[in-house]
Amino acid sequence: MNSSLRIRSMPVSAVRKLAPYATAAKQAGATVFHLNIGDPDVKTPEAMLAVLRNWDRNPIGYAPSPGEPAFLRALESYYHGLGFGFLTESDIVATVGGSEAIIMALFSVCEPGDEVLVFEPFYSNYASLAAMADVRFVAVPTTLQTGFHLPERTQIEQRITGRTKAILFCTPGNPTGTVFTRTEMEMLVTIAKERNLFLISDEVYREYIFTGAPKHTSILHFMESLPDRTIMLDSLSKRYSLCGARLGVFVSRNPELVQGAVKIAQSRLSGGLIDQLVGAALTEVPQSFIAEVQREYESRRDILYTGLTAIPGVTMTRPEGAFYSMVGLPVPDAEQFCIWLLEKYRSEGNATVMLAPGTGFYLTPGKGKSEVRIAYVLNTSDLKTCITMLADALEQYPERIR
Ligand SMILES: Cc1ncc(COP(=O)(O)O)c(C=O)c1O
Repeated sequence: MNSSLRIRSMPVSAVRKLAPYATAAKQAGATVFHLNIGDPDVKTPEAMLAVLRNWDRNPIGYAPSPGEPAFLRALESYYHGLGFGFLTESDIVATVGGSEAIIMALFSVCEPGDEVLVFEPFYSNYASLAAMADVRFVAVPTTLQTGFHLPERTQIEQRITGRTKAILFCTPGNPTGTVFTRTEMEMLVTIAKERNLFLISDEVYREYIFTGAPKHTSILHFMESLPDRTIMLDSLSKRYSLCGARLGVFVSRNPELVQGAVKIAQSRLSGGLIDQLVGAALTEVPQSFIAEVQREYESRRDILYTGLTAIPGVTMTRPEGAFYSMVGLPVPDAEQFCIWLLEKYRSEGNATVMLAPGTGFYLTPGKGKSEVRIAYVLNTSDLKTCITMLADALEQYPERIR
């Protein structure tokens, strides 16, 4: 018996694709430094861990489908603290990671076969989630030369067809590290108004911006004037180092969209109760936590940028936010190089580094072939080790373009 064509044609997650090679390297005794996935090594805040230590609920029941009230209240107060006082709990659905919020958004605004514009390169799991929702992505290219900022308005508009329902974007961006300016966000808002499209804004890296003022422009800045067609997606994974807690957020002022997301939430009964009560402690996390983590990522960004751009043939833009960068390498096929790193390359300390091959972040065949995505989620000392290994590996790589 064959599995469905749908599941067979679903893309493999670009960040996990090479996992078997990493497992084999570890089994053979090597240390693998993971720069392939955005799973930060920053410690989870104490106030959140305390919830686990002091846990006394027995039995552990379901949470309400749209979210545990204490978590929804905490989220409301977080968004109010950011200046979005118009949001209420009824605009917010707690999701199982930001990942679930993405599929809820696609499902809520698209019929099967509808089109959504995405800026290429984009977060690779978007493609898997679109496949699950039977949504067709249409790529709008952005380039390393322009820091992956938005192209001219005409470049976006010429890809709109009668089936286009939404524009999905991420700022600060994974995998680019690009932070859209207010002008860019205004352009998207104008297009959405004039062409009758939804805007789905993925803001899971909101707090990590290194461009100085003005800070992040959120879709929430436009939500009051555009309540029917804006959705904001969020996650606690990166902000509080809670990747394993599976806490995400779907926000909209369009009651039909919220009811749609709640229907999906009801179909899986409940998000994790334990996770959500850990998340509810976000109101007790001192502002200094976020400020310190911001500084930490900024210094990692600086180390990565200075270190990599000193390697001949390596190209990258200075990331403005999040903790990723698309990096061009002097190799004909970055995926083969990533496999070679895991299979063949070993530093003197019997270590190697794992990167995510670039093609998985593009729709257009052939694009990203010489690129990798690097997640600077390791501490500055490990990061320096990785940069040294990468320079050394490129020296040794037989296929290197010189
Ligand atoms: C841009 C973006 N959106 C959403 C997610 C989903 O994160 P999670 O499901 O852990 O909340 C990620 C995770 O890496 C991401 O990078």
